[in-house]
Amino acid sequence: MDSRSIWVRVPGTSANCGPGFDSIGLACTVYNDLQLRLTEEEGCRITISGAGAENIPCDQRNIVWQSVQYLLQKAGMGEVYKGAVMHMENNVPLSRGLGSSATAIVAGLKGANALLNNRFTRRELLQFATEIEGHPDNVAPAIYGGFTISTVTKGDVECFTLIPKLRLKLVVAVPDFPLSTKKAREVLPEAVSIKDAVNNIGRAGMLVAALCKGNEKFLRNVFEDALHQPYRAKLIPGMYEVFKAARNAGALGASLSGAGPCLMAYTLQRRHVEEAVGQAMQETFAQYGVHADILLLDLDTRGAHIINDK
Ligand code: HSE
Repeated sequence: MDSRSIWVRVPGTSANCGPGFDSIGLACTVYNDLQLRLTEEEGCRITISGAGAENIPCDQRNIVWQSVQYLLQKAGMGEVYKGAVMHMENNVPLSRGLGSSATAIVAGLKGANALLNNRFTRRELLQFATEIEGHPDNVAPAIYGGFTISTVTKGDVECFTLIPKLRLKLVVAVPDFPLSTKKAREVLPEAVSIKDAVNNIGRAGMLVAALCKGNEKFLRNVFEDALHQPYRAKLIPGMYEVFKAARNAGALGASLSGAGPCLMAYTLQRRHVEEAVGQAMQETFAQYGVHADILLLDLDTRGAHIINDK
């Protein structure tokens, strides 16, 4: 018998947050929704609307479908449910550094798990999602919401979730060109200097502590990075100038979102500077020939969840 049909909503994410390369991430209020039904009949039927729909495969290569199959295999149900009917409504820009592939993985796992009456815990879903994605910093916030700090020890993922004690606004400049994570990882060096490592250790620690305590004073220099952004700057025209413009317009700081090309500036809600920051980022990008759309987002504090009201 085919399963019932459900909807899953998964937030977009921003990984690294400056110094937390492959470790720190956050969830933000832009969402991809998935409607999923499992079938006994073999094969998947996929329809997609919204962001990047024309560039997402609707066959066996589809990441949502591969993640559904991954979970079914783990549950020993791969021979019971051999196919699926799926519809995706996407708002997270594709291949821009806002975790679109993580949303796909998490939607497939979360949806299939819900249809198996939550056979697996969220922690187990995080483990599966990290095995599929290769690093936890996007899938963790997509599952849990908030800020997440993740470590991987001999393949086992652990994740600490944090809702900061201050209200942040996230200003995202979304350039009109995609950048694959593979390409953005290929430009990274094999080894880094102790000086650069120390730079990031201090900032990553201070970022987490300042968010926990709600201490804005210590958030002024923590979004800087020496491990990945300097190498990726050549892939994103004007990146450091856009960071500077965001700060001059009142942002606490800014960073490359995930592997880019989106840039994210962090502002405090009570300061009401987010529109000015967005405009400054957009205008500065334009000086480098890059058209960028601006998203004004909040932190998502819920993570992936089942929605019944669609
Ligand atoms: N931490 C990863 C990177 C995120 O920066 O390559 C990519 O999604």
